[in-house]
Amino acid sequence: MPKVTFMPENKTVEFEFGKLRYRDHGKRESLLDIALNLGVDLEHACGGSCACTTCHVIVLEGEKNMSEAEDDELDRLDMAPGLTLRSRLGCQAVVKGDVKVEIPAWNKNYIKEGGKSTL
Ligand code: FES
Repeated sequence: MPKVTFMPENKTVEFEFGKLRYRDHGKRESLLDIALNLGVDLEHACGGSCACTTCHVIVLEGEKNMSEAEDDELDRLDMAPGLTLRSRLGCQAVVKGDVKVEIPAWNKNYIKEGGKSTL
């Protein structure tokens, strides 16, 4: 079973392919889908439709164990604050094996403090 670790909480969850209940947020078995199913707090202002950047994560390990970013994800990521070469949108990155990602703390704070939306 693939393991997904979310930093900085250092919370690792496991899931079985095809067994998650789809919650209609992002791509099936994306980081966001996994997070919502397994109790990890990952922002998703647009509901997982690749129309914001609040689900921005930075891949620490296992980049090859995720789907490749498509053009619409890359275009959207260009608008993400704090963009890195290892940035992905949690709702678009489909997990295929073990991965470790970081949810940027400033991203969460930005949302919670009522910062300007990146929509
Ligand atoms: S939740 Fe908006 S782009 Fe992922």
